[in-house]
Amino acid sequence: MEYGSFVAAFDSGVGGISVLREMVRLMPYEDFVFFGDSANAPYGTKTTNVVREMTIEHAKRFIERGAKALCIACNTATSAAVRPLREMFPSFPIVGIEPALKPAAEHVPGGRILVMATPMTIREVKFQNLLARYEDMAKIIPLACPGLMEFVEEGKSDSPEAAAFLHELLREYEGNVDAVVLGCTHYPFVKNQIAAVLGENVRIFDGAAGTARELRRRMVAQGVAQTNVARRGSVVFENSGGEEKIELCRRLMRG
Ligand code: DGL
Repeated sequence: MEYGSFVAAFDSGVGGISVLREMVRLMPYEDFVFFGDSANAPYGTKTTNVVREMTIEHAKRFIERGAKALCIACNTATSAAVRPLREMFPSFPIVGIEPALKPAAEHVPGGRILVMATPMTIREVKFQNLLARYEDMAKIIPLACPGLMEFVEEGKSDSPEAAAFLHELLREYEGNVDAVVLGCTHYPFVKNQIAAVLGENVRIFDGAAGTARELRRRMVAQGVAQTNVARRGSVVFENSGGEEKIELCRRLMRG
């Protein structure tokens, strides 16, 4: 199969912008199309089968439209569907983000690491395998955070309501964790509010930059990376939730 010209990225909503901005920083010469499925968000509280089907649909549509690589910028969709997708499209570069346990465990060996993610990410076998790999290195504490992504999705990351929600959710970890892993791509947009509860000394990790590097590596290996690195690429936003969500994506992208 001949693949096309742009790099596709998708998330259940606007959170994947935290990954897109790292991809654009690393490969500003590529053309990107980012699709957020805000109309169907959240994914993290749905069944795995439903999310798998939707993710496969999005991926197929992108490939049919001429994508040359795909980043699943959603931990939840990755845990539900990255495997079947790789089996369906073995020669197509597909990368999916997953909670950044490795850098956190290496940073605080023997320490206590809180992993914030959606209920689906935490219950799925992909995360359980990851946990098994690092549980000898650190005390890993998974925390499902239903209700948190909605603040970002509604453009209310900086609201007093988001701060109050996080205070309630995290107060039992105040002063007793050494690191936090943001295992959902929406959460980097409430990173400051998380730090405000847990304290500035707690190091916060997310997988965005690592995922961008892994995507570039696979694109180079597959021979689909842009060779004219002097060119300036483009970024197109699409969202099933309409113009308002696209505007929010642009705002989050600007930072
Ligand atoms: N952004 C998604 C993730 O990384 C999840 C948000 C949702 O529940 O849809 O897991």
